Amino acid sequence: MRTKLIVGNWKMNGSRAANAALLEGIVAGLDDARAEAAVCVPAPYLQQCQDALAGTPVAWGAQDVSMHACGAYTGEICASMLAEFDCRYVIVGHSERRAYHREDSDLVARKAQAVLAEGMTPIVCVGETLAQREAGETMQVVGGQLGAVLELLAPEQVARIVVAYEPVWAIGTGRNATPDVAQDVHAGLRAQLAARNADAAPGVRILYGGSMKPENARELLARPDIDGGLIGGAALKAQDFLAIIHAA
Ligand code: 13P
Repeated sequence: MRTKLIVGNWKMNGSRAANAALLEGIVAGLDDARAEAAVCVPAPYLQQCQDALAGTPVAWGAQDVSMHACGAYTGEICASMLAEFDCRYVIVGHSERRAYHREDSDLVARKAQAVLAEGMTPIVCVGETLAQREAGETMQVVGGQLGAVLELLAPEQVARIVVAYEPVWAIGTGRNATPDVAQDVHAGLRAQLAARNADAAPGVRILYGGSMKPENARELLARPDIDGGLIGGAALKAQDFLAIIHAA
């Protein structure tokens, strides 16, 4: 049985004051939530998260990482640095990085490998654009994105990743994928995981991301292969984020 996982992706949002209130609100409202919760925050706030969340049920992590180990890579942050802040998760291959920073699937795969090498869990994002969906290319696109990662990992490492299906057309648009549409893609991704490691695939969590909010979370999370959410906008308000955690 897969424990549901709700991850807030703060993207490039936050301030020390706003974060303090948000983190305090999340921890205070968890009550007896059975889902796992985590926040992936801008790197300058990792220390603040570590201070605020250590000893609570909420985990924390980063939104990107360098594929390189330490060295002459100005502006980059390597996985061993993130590990020093006790990050549990690192998002890799978010569509905003693929689109605005020209990250390709090979780079994303190397980043996933760097995260695993430091004992953290990569959240590997995949997703198609609207044009790709309308052209009937969804499974080919997301399959290619996940396939590049699976190719680089040893079969036993498959058990140590989280996958996030985030259709680009649903991100920040208010237009979520329907539960049926998301479930279809998630089932396809799980089959692909199984082809690489049949024993591990049933345990890998596949999150849905793209305009998930309190109003649609319950229905999405009820589908058999939707194991949680990667939440953008709704993760910036404690009340909304908590509502999704409790729905899970
Ligand atoms: P929204 O929830 O704002 O659509 O963002 C989703 C996302 O990109 C999470 O990584």
